[in-house]
Amino acid sequence: MSEGFTLWFTGLSGAGKSTLANLVAGELRRRGHRVEVLDGDEVRTNLSKGLGFSKEDRDTNIRRIGYVCKLLARNGVIAISAAISPYREVRDEIRRQHERFFEVYVKCPLDTLVERDVKGLYRKALKGEIANFTGVSDPYEEPFSPELVIESNRETPQQSLERLLQSLEQAGLIFAQGAGR
Ligand code: ADX
Repeated sequence: MSEGFTLWFTGLSGAGKSTLANLVAGELRRRGHRVEVLDGDEVRTNLSKGLGFSKEDRDTNIRRIGYVCKLLARNGVIAISAAISPYREVRDEIRRQHERFFEVYVKCPLDTLVERDVKGLYRKALKGEIANFTGVSDPYEEPFSPELVIESNRETPQQSLERLLQSLEQAGLIFAQGAGR
């Protein structure tokens, strides 16, 4: 049984954080790990219900997620966070609270996100119907040295998954899996 750790995704809305988080969660469970996913959209309907998108509220939201991840990770669970987490300082604060922390920046050009606009939110944000929208009218601070960068517009989710698993193996966070992967 390997030790727990926190796998922290950061990136703009629609970049693919949740997709990759759920893919890797499935694979890690298949390999026998205990895994929990804390997804931004879901956390905001329960643990962070009532919080908005000001810097203060986002920081509160991220600190709550980070705190739960820390508790899970120290109890042998792989805790996966998939929230925008736009502010570097609070991400790094959470990193410091962890023994084992792996940050993945899911990077995608804004043009592509606006084009895809899966939830229709970029269109609204560009028209000014949603204020403080990350990447449009609110900041996103890229990580300076994430453990991994995924350029989600340049590879398929399956390719990203393979790269992520390899990086986790190289970091000694999970064991390498041979045939049958
Ligand atoms: S975070 O900034 O606090 O990390 P979180 O990941 O929880 O954000 O929530 C982001 C999701 O909330 C987006 O994917 C989108 O669906 C929705 N959302 C609604 N309003 C905003 C906004 N102003 N900025 C960003 N996302 C928003």
